[in-house]
Amino acid sequence: HLVCPMSASPFVDASRPGHEVWEEFSRSFIPAVREVVEFAKRIPGFQELSQHDQVNLLKAGTFEVLMVRFVPLFDVQQRTVSFMSGRRYSVDLLRSMGAGELLNCMFEFSEKLAALQLNDEEMSLFSAVVLVSADRSAIEDVVGVEALQESLIRALRNLIMKNHSNESSVFTKLLLKLPELRSLNNMHSEELLAFKIQP
Ligand code: HEM
Repeated sequence: HLVCPMSASPFVDASRPGHEVWEEFSRSFIPAVREVVEFAKRIPGFQELSQHDQVNLLKAGTFEVLMVRFVPLFDVQQRTVSFMSGRRYSVDLLRSMGAGELLNCMFEFSEKLAALQLNDEEMSLFSAVVLVSADRSAIEDVVGVEALQESLIRALRNLIMKNHSNESSVFTKLLLKLPELRSLNNMHSEELLAFKIQP
């Protein structure tokens, strides 16, 4: 089984060689990854960072940007997850196929982010903040990335203040999503690694 919704389906033909399964899976998630790269290029100031730092922010942050973007795949009411083919699978089925705590955490995250009812502009700006807040362990110009992050956070705060002037907690709640995304990223990396080292 392949219980990641970036796959077309969770069912895997057990007789197929692992590299073929991985190639087909790649074909389904690569377009989304490319869109994150294109999105990053449009963040004002991102392309002024060194190539090295651009690559490392993308390596560390692509999952987190995708997580935000694919929140609508998690249907909290119906308790289903839509895969890339568009087909929906119940949490119970996915759990019987090996999904666990991470799936729960993603549902919880999705429910809380969806409750903030952000519009497209707010989502984009939040995603930009997520990307430049990615793990800095491999970054050369930490000061430059921090300056870009600060300008994006200021823009996000202004936009949220303008659109949600009567709900002062929305901006704070969004910033509190950053460590949650980091934690989902870490848990997800472990699942990915475990999957890859299986024969
Ligand atoms: C699990 C790959 C992005 C949600 C997995 C697994 C792999 C994987 C290999 C383990 C599958 C298994 O053991 O059956 C990837 C790759 C991604 C990606 C290469 C990069 C594009 C995402 C995103 C989300 C997501 C953006 C959420 C929107 C999940 C979930 C699981 C999972 C819910 C199962 C969690 C559990 O076991 O509880 N992913 N994934 N993945 N992934 Fe992804």
